[in-house]
Amino acid sequence: MCGIIGYTGPLDARSILLNGLSTLEYRGYDSAGIALCMEDSSICVAKKVGKVQALKDYCDAQITGGSHSGIGHTRWATHGGVTDENAHPHRAGRVTLIHNGIIENYHALTEQFGLQDRLVSQTDSEVAAWVLDRLYTGDPLKAIRELMGMVEGSYGFCIMFDDQPGAVYAARSVSPLVASYTHAGAMIASDLTALIPYTNQYFVVPEDHIVKLTPYKVHVYELDDSFSKFYPEIMTVNWNMDAAMKNGFPHFMLKEIHEQPEAMKQTILPRMNKGLPDFTDDRIPDQIFADCSQIHIVACGTAMHAGMVARAVMEPILRIPVTVTIASEFRYEQPLIDEKTLVIIISQSGETIDTLAALRLAREYGSVTLAVVNVKGSTIARESDYVLYTHAGPEIAVASTKAYSVQLAALYLIGCRMALVRGKFSRKEAADFLEKLIDAIPAMETMIEQKDTIKALVTHIIQSPDAFFIGRGLDYAFSLEGALKLKEISYIHAEAYAAGELKHGTIALISDQVPVIAIATQDHVFAKTISNIREVKARGAYVILLTREGAVVDENLADIRIRIPDLDDRFTVFPIAVVLQLIAYYASLGKNLDVDQPRNLAKSVTVE
Ligand code: F6R
Repeated sequence: MCGIIGYTGPLDARSILLNGLSTLEYRGYDSAGIALCMEDSSICVAKKVGKVQALKDYCDAQITGGSHSGIGHTRWATHGGVTDENAHPHRAGRVTLIHNGIIENYHALTEQFGLQDRLVSQTDSEVAAWVLDRLYTGDPLKAIRELMGMVEGSYGFCIMFDDQPGAVYAARSVSPLVASYTHAGAMIASDLTALIPYTNQYFVVPEDHIVKLTPYKVHVYELDDSFSKFYPEIMTVNWNMDAAMKNGFPHFMLKEIHEQPEAMKQTILPRMNKGLPDFTDDRIPDQIFADCSQIHIVACGTAMHAGMVARAVMEPILRIPVTVTIASEFRYEQPLIDEKTLVIIISQSGETIDTLAALRLAREYGSVTLAVVNVKGSTIARESDYVLYTHAGPEIAVASTKAYSVQLAALYLIGCRMALVRGKFSRKEAADFLEKLIDAIPAMETMIEQKDTIKALVTHIIQSPDAFFIGRGLDYAFSLEGALKLKEISYIHAEAYAAGELKHGTIALISDQVPVIAIATQDHVFAKTISNIREVKARGAYVILLTREGAVVDENLADIRIRIPDLDDRFTVFPIAVVLQLIAYYASLGKNLDVDQPRNLAKSVTVE
């Protein structure tokens, strides 16, 4: 979850690392640090609790002299509190190291190497640094290979050795790393956004390999006896730095909300052929849709909520079981899946550790795996049998917005193609379905245009410590996402309930003026949901009602009503998602919170 970067080359390492850390900050932001190899070959370490800006200020005041190589880190604390000592880089003898991941056997290693008196931090990472120092006899590759054989857990390491000035070493297991050799020198980072200002060519560091960066070259080594060289596939990024900038928006989240209609088009239109969904370019064969007897969707957080919507849309059309499981649960269960199961893995980052573990488990069971992923070349994308990329571009705000919409779009395309292949949709029905999906795009634009109305209604929500989201059927699946969005960036305790469940306990929580965001866009349960809304209203709730334009409701039913365009039931999620995202955004803004980097969270969850 931490952001890491390494650089060596002709330019000023300090500014490259600090600028890189600013772009990586969304991966973790409780403290940050850099280590520079100075012109006299000494190592200078600076680290500070707080945002990267605090580190920049500190470096301006403390560091004089130039440097052309170094490593940098933004931290999301796992072991040990948020202190300067626990921030990375860690110095251990002749080794300086940064780490993204978790070393599970750090305690055993501490004992084995008698490090108790050496450690100045509470981190697992410092233990790895000391172990490496003990193993180091002048050959970095050998020592790193030995370290990799000893540590258990996940890691992306960047390492400097005192007696190897100008060289930066790296190694990974599970935690992501990408690298590049550019006109500006050699670079490595946990995330492409740090490399994009310098190049659009990069490679994914393969797991269980060592990378050596020098100002002139990047080499990748196998772990075999002779450290054979490995030549990774060079990839090209299909977005530029503008996509990772705010471009005039006050926050990434607002920018990303606005980008949704375009992202939807990018995801859907290239996969349309004569009005029908077509995955020929994605190399996804129809056979996998024809052969399966059930679908199992696995993901975390917002991506899992996209899966829940997809389940409710797909199952009635396909008439086969569609199950959705949280990845962190799935990976420790004995799932009822087999080679006739299509396991759909959803992940924006393609690096979420639990989702990755779920994918690997599904493969062990012999299931066919299809990943819906945003980040090209990510681990989940590479390890799945098939991948359907969403084309949202980089999502920087920690709260997922555009990634959710395009995940839904991709899942709707899959459902539609599958229905066609299995004879559940005629060509005309499939074309109609797709047309409705495309019609949802202007409906999203309509709701984005209403952002000022949504901003105004949030005044009431932010005065309450609690908020409830209710709905039935698909509306319940949307509610789950609405509640997650609100709680993660506004810190308002928000819960989603199936409206019919309220009477089984939750209604006890409804008191005077408690905000209830009620979603009622599903025709077949509309009257039932309206009855549930009356029940909460009768108990004093402040009701914000989300319905379709044409829905007929009693004027007194809600305190505020937001109308979305009249779409078919299965497609209302798209404009509704925009409304829910804007509610969360303005609530966070209204409370003067850090919208893009909410407390305790990080964008990419690469530790369990
Ligand atoms: C919430 C959010 C998270 C992610 C979850 C999965 O706004 O962004 O719940 O959806 O951590 O992440 P990915 O999709 O990268 O696997």
